[in-house]
Amino acid sequence: MTSNDGAFPAAEADRVEVGGMALWIRPIGPRDDRRLVEFFHSLSPRSIYMRFFAPMKQLSETMVARLTRVDPRRHIALAAYPGSGPDEPMLGVGRMIAQTDPRRAEFSIVVTDAFQGLGIGAALLQRCIDLAPSRGIEKIRGLVLAENTRMLALGRKLGFTIQRAGGAEYELAIDVTVAAPETERMVQRVTTL
Ligand SMILES: CC(C)(COP(=O)(O)OP(=O)(O)OC[C@H]1O[C@@H](n2cnc3c(N)ncnc32)[C@H](O)[C@@H]1OP(=O)(O)O)[C@@H](O)C(=O)NCCC(=O)NCCS
Repeated sequence: MTSNDGAFPAAEADRVEVGGMALWIRPIGPRDDRRLVEFFHSLSPRSIYMRFFAPMKQLSETMVARLTRVDPRRHIALAAYPGSGPDEPMLGVGRMIAQTDPRRAEFSIVVTDAFQGLGIGAALLQRCIDLAPSRGIEKIRGLVLAENTRMLALGRKLGFTIQRAGGAEYELAIDVTVAAPETERMVQRVTTL
């Protein structure tokens, strides 16, 4: 397998089962430029607004590069796919980016509209949380619009605290050095290849 044939190097991909559906989760890299743009265009204006806090019609080349050429020491970027082949579409993207203090990170998460509500967002965010300690991240936060009841429900389920952040936003925060109760876990990892 070459690095640019679009198929996933097995060592990089995790197979997870979400609500009876098999999914592949793997890190985003430079070979994903096209897939990321296609994923962006699969999102509704509302989902784009909830994710970027702004109405956006497209991703600039600069932005695509920033989102796919990540420094793995401080930026966890994962995408979920229905399979491991070269033409699989991205179904969701989860990120965690370390801040000036590398022990603190901000998360973002977005799932393509047709696949929302199936557990993919939970799987991606949980995987980011699981990886955070390996990057030295201790505390994770994210801002969520008050109207985003789905994200607020997801954050609550995964153990985030939720506080009003002023205006129309809430801050979700979690300390990953404090173990979450097993019962809160929504995602069962079935295989790590
Ligand atoms: C927020 C988002 C990432 C959640 O991903 P998702 O795959 O749809 O969520 P999941 O299916 O994993 O649901 C997780 C939990 O959210 C809640 N949820 C799911 N669908 C919901 C709905 N229609 N209404 C309210 N809560 C809902 C539930 O608590 C659910 O857990 P449960 O299924 O065990 O009850 C997704 O809806 C999305 O991409 N939204 C647009 C972008 C965004 O808002 N990003 C967040 C800010 S960065």
